[in-house]
Amino acid sequence: MAVMMAQFTPSVVELGWVAADGTADQISQEPMVFAASWDFISEVGGPLTQEALSVLEENLKRSEYPEVIFDSRVQLLQKGEYSAIPGYHCDFYRRIDGQPDLTYDAQGWIASFSLVSNGWAGAETEVIAEPVDITWWDRKHVWKSVHDQVKDKSSLLLNHGCWNWISQKTIHRATPAKESTWRFWLRVAHTDNTKCVNKIRRQTMVYVVDESSGW
Ligand SMILES: [Fe+2]
Repeated sequence: MAVMMAQFTPSVVELGWVAADGTADQISQEPMVFAASWDFISEVGGPLTQEALSVLEENLKRSEYPEVIFDSRVQLLQKGEYSAIPGYHCDFYRRIDGQPDLTYDAQGWIASFSLVSNGWAGAETEVIAEPVDITWWDRKHVWKSVHDQVKDKSSLLLNHGCWNWISQKTIHRATPAKESTWRFWLRVAHTDNTKCVNKIRRQTMVYVVDESSGW
């Protein structure tokens, strides 16, 4: 079977801090959106969303990126639970037969903002901080083979409370909550591989690596 290769060069920029506290009460009351336009999220977003959007707009000209897509989630995490995919991956990759196509020359970017009600709870996004050459041959578990190749590379955690901009080729993963916490997450994506749906998100899920560990 042919061995394939792709280079992933990270790019991470801290855009701006949001003054919101993010208490459990504030986070739990925040509406969530799914694949929303700038207009839609501005209309339905709660106070945390509005505060985060105003900081985003100080850093990204809305008129320059009118077609970006927003997603948000509110989650109650228990110790050991993940807010998102625990394995290293990139977002919005094109897929072939259900698996990501790593030869896709992704030129997009993502900016995300998160808040936790318990500042000691962890649950940050972790990004790989050095360029990596990925080789793969297993077409059934592509992100798993990426994960195995980067898990010992240098990485950094994205701070809660500020907008972090990353290129689409920045490999990242969720980290687990170390304590019980409410978590709010908001992402804006500029990519050629997503489309606007403008829905209120009415449910979300949390992730575990091994469900037998905590019950
Ligand atoms: Fe992701």
